[in-house]
Amino acid sequence: MMKQPAELLQLMTLEEKIGQLLQLAAPFFQGADGQITGPMAEMGITEETVRNTGSVLGLTGAEDVINVQKQHLATNRLGIPLLIMADIVHGYKTIFPVPLAIGCSWDLELAEQSAEIAAKEAAAAGVHVTFAPMVDLVRDPRWGRVMESTGEDPYLNSEFARAFVRGFQGKDLVNDVSRVAACVKHFAAYGAAEGGRDYNTVDLSERQLREFYLPSYKAALDEGCEMVMTAFNTVDGIPATGNKWLMRDLLRGEWSFDGVMISDWGAVKELIPHGVAANEAEAAIKAIRAGVDIEMMTTCYSDHLQKLVESKEIDEALIDEAVLRILELKQKLGLFEQPYRGANAQLEQELVSSEAHRNASRELALKSCVLLKNDSVLPLNREQKIALIGPFAANGDILGPWSWLGSKDEAVQLAAGIGSKIDASLLSVTEGCGIETATEEQLKAAIAAASEADVLVLALGEHSDMSGEAGSRSNIQLPQVQLELISKLKQLGKPMVAVLFNGRPLDLHGVIDQADAVLEAWFPGTEGGAAIAELLFGESEPTGRLTMSFPYSVGQIPVYYNRFNTGRPQGAPDAQVRYVSQYLDIPNEPLLPFGYGLGYTTFKYSEAVMAADTMSASEPLQVNLTVTNTGTRAGEDIVQLYVRDMAGDVVRPLQELKAFKKVMLQPGESKEISFTLEEQQLRYYHADLTFASDPGEFELYIGPNSRDVSALKFKLSK
Ligand code: IFM
Repeated sequence: MMKQPAELLQLMTLEEKIGQLLQLAAPFFQGADGQITGPMAEMGITEETVRNTGSVLGLTGAEDVINVQKQHLATNRLGIPLLIMADIVHGYKTIFPVPLAIGCSWDLELAEQSAEIAAKEAAAAGVHVTFAPMVDLVRDPRWGRVMESTGEDPYLNSEFARAFVRGFQGKDLVNDVSRVAACVKHFAAYGAAEGGRDYNTVDLSERQLREFYLPSYKAALDEGCEMVMTAFNTVDGIPATGNKWLMRDLLRGEWSFDGVMISDWGAVKELIPHGVAANEAEAAIKAIRAGVDIEMMTTCYSDHLQKLVESKEIDEALIDEAVLRILELKQKLGLFEQPYRGANAQLEQELVSSEAHRNASRELALKSCVLLKNDSVLPLNREQKIALIGPFAANGDILGPWSWLGSKDEAVQLAAGIGSKIDASLLSVTEGCGIETATEEQLKAAIAAASEADVLVLALGEHSDMSGEAGSRSNIQLPQVQLELISKLKQLGKPMVAVLFNGRPLDLHGVIDQADAVLEAWFPGTEGGAAIAELLFGESEPTGRLTMSFPYSVGQIPVYYNRFNTGRPQGAPDAQVRYVSQYLDIPNEPLLPFGYGLGYTTFKYSEAVMAADTMSASEPLQVNLTVTNTGTRAGEDIVQLYVRDMAGDVVRPLQELKAFKKVMLQPGESKEISFTLEEQQLRYYHADLTFASDPGEFELYIGPNSRDVSALKFKLSK
């Protein structure tokens, strides 16, 4: 009979225990290459170290995983299997839209399904743990990793965090080998990096942290997420990876998290350049005391913990508790009985990019695209001659960052998608320019093609390396050559549709003012071109809504809907008015607000009616309204409900999303929508950090986005 983790621990030498705390990338294991997602430095790893190592990252593929595990079990004295971890972020080989796009679907079921499919493919390929979901709240589109988050709202982010965890882990991780354990990241507040520069300082008040940034991690853990990854940034002057308050007191203490905590790549050793550890030994002490169980890709633990225990600077009990947590996770995943778990080369082959998985990816891509503008050009008419122009016209780089196993060659390009809808004689395809460079010939060919066409579809955007990790940009407009292409083509006076492929909200000047229609496609994944074509021709309705504001310009950043008022709020925008909180040269409002998106039909909201204008802890507020499809096509709207606490103990956001409902309506059809608002939804962190609601006046806003709302007043009584 297999030994229990606690019994196994008793048999382990200190060296073997410390080995469990090390994670190495795939290339350290004979016979496996894999993904490298951080700086590779000389680590002085010996064969002995590899023999004792507890986990691998970036190793996938059933055959490779089985080989590596087999060799490991043959050489590891106690036969403790490796944990195999990898970044399966928005799909394994069937790639789904990037998470920011998934956020814009507001579709929790499809989000869950995408994670389930990613888990199935990855589990068959031998993966046990995915480094996902990334649930960092984001407000700064200069940061390249905004594409990995679902956006700027704590409530919506929390709902998506839960959906992703459910999808990855399923209901029975222990027995269901087609699921993988989830690792929520990056704890905490990595999304608040100053200036949007990756890895940069984060400095927030504890109330900001608790109110906006922490709920999504907590939601993932409430859903049973097995692991947590630290963040690279500081939290209140202390790097997260060595932050005892954050991890021991809050995460493990207050939140009772007893799963495995892993550092990000190299983050333990980075305590040295951060300036809170003088050397590797000190870095190891700080991280283990803070509660980091596994050190990813540096060797502060494996090179120093033994001596630190021997010299009594570290209590061996700290190491024991970390090892126990890791062994318990291995046990939970059934690895002691089935060290290869779900790894199955034949199943892997059958599953990856199967028709069913590709269909699910297309369905989510359809829901994730956001129609930002439409001056009656869309849907396209199939009889028209179309010139498809731009660097993304026939380009498979539409999977986005963190899709390392997806094949760009297998992605449906926009040209193929459009080509499948119309007669070949009606479509011309030309680049016009590269993503960042252009030649005269490219431009000439584009103008020639455009001159022959009835309508121009421009496929523009950022290449996938312009966002993602280490992908921060200070200028978030489209590259200059693409802006020039738009203005040259504009001179032809033809109807122009811009389809955008990118990983962040952009400054859309030069695009939205020139094009007659703009469809934000993000990085839509494997079936991107097919989904976009379906939307362009009106076979499906655009239903996506932004979950991150599009700034007017970079000078406004951070700009987000759930901001505070000031003591001198702006009235009507007027640069002549002095001493109010405004810019003299740009509006305060973002170009496109949170919750915004168009469809091909129109909706009318009746006046919302409250059953009573006072609520209490025992009597929730009931609000009803009727939504009517006033257009000529069937369509889906997302009815959004926001509140504002008019006088709080501390300042309160001008609006907070509390609920939303999707409503599908045929032309002329009406449906009654009903919301119930509970007292607990009005609670927040007071000055003394107690979590409570304030009796008094509130405003409630209902609308199709955070800007176009109607207001009602209600009272919360004691
Ligand atoms: O999971 C990632 C993390 O998000 C960023 N650094 C590398 C890790 C492992 O690949």
